[in-house]
Amino acid sequence: MKITDVAKARYTTKSFDSTLKIAPELIEQLRELLRYAPSSVNSQPWHFIIANDDAGKARIAKATSGSFSFNEAKVKNASHILVFCARKNIDEDYLETLLAQEQQDGRFPNDQTRQGQDNGRRFFVGLNRQSDAGISAWIEKQVYLALGTLLLGAGTLGIDACPMEGFDAAILDGELNLSSKNLCSVVVVALGYRASEDFNAKTPKSRLPENAIFSEI
Ligand SMILES: Cc1cc2nc3c(=O)[nH]c(=O)nc-3n(C[C@H](O)[C@H](O)[C@H](O)COP(=O)(O)O)c2cc1C
Repeated sequence: MKITDVAKARYTTKSFDSTLKIAPELIEQLRELLRYAPSSVNSQPWHFIIANDDAGKARIAKATSGSFSFNEAKVKNASHILVFCARKNIDEDYLETLLAQEQQDGRFPNDQTRQGQDNGRRFFVGLNRQSDAGISAWIEKQVYLALGTLLLGAGTLGIDACPMEGFDAAILDGELNLSSKNLCSVVVVALGYRASEDFNAKTPKSRLPENAIFSEI
């Protein structure tokens, strides 16, 4: 299958068949995709929380009450729910953890390369750390790269998905004790298989025309 066929076939699933579960080996592939998602200066400032049973999904569904109730059934009926979390900051300990991992993974043929990587990462973190809003926005950009990777990957594996910003982040952060882990929720993804009555499966895709989004210079 062409990659563009996957991009056109995948769609935001609005109604999931609660009887259909994603096979563990496919979940394993999605986990690996997330782990290998790229991020600026290899910062990987994310954490993913996965719920695959009713109890876990019910905890996440608490954040889809009130104004976000349009997403509640998706959370409850999908096979798996992923909460994409962002680190709240990038501190000295974390910079050292990243560097040590890269060292262990054989990225540095010598001390100079190691130092170069450390300096480069500190430069970008420093640029974005000039305000709290700046570092959070930069971290969240990295988390959205993982989201894009997951959505295309799920499409490739024939798994349906619904990405959701429509949830109460304060409720979810409280329910999952994210603050104490130096994390906050950014986006939630429901994964599973469409219900036969999902209206959105038959709705044509809509995108701006090519000439509105590309220019050649
Ligand atoms: C970051 C993000 C947040 C979204 N939040 C929601 C949501 O809360 N509920 C929902 O039903 N769809 C949500 N969507 C789905 C978008 O509306 C959908 O991706 C867009 O209309 C394009 O349609 P397609 O995914 O079917 O190609 C979200 C999509 C993205 C990428």
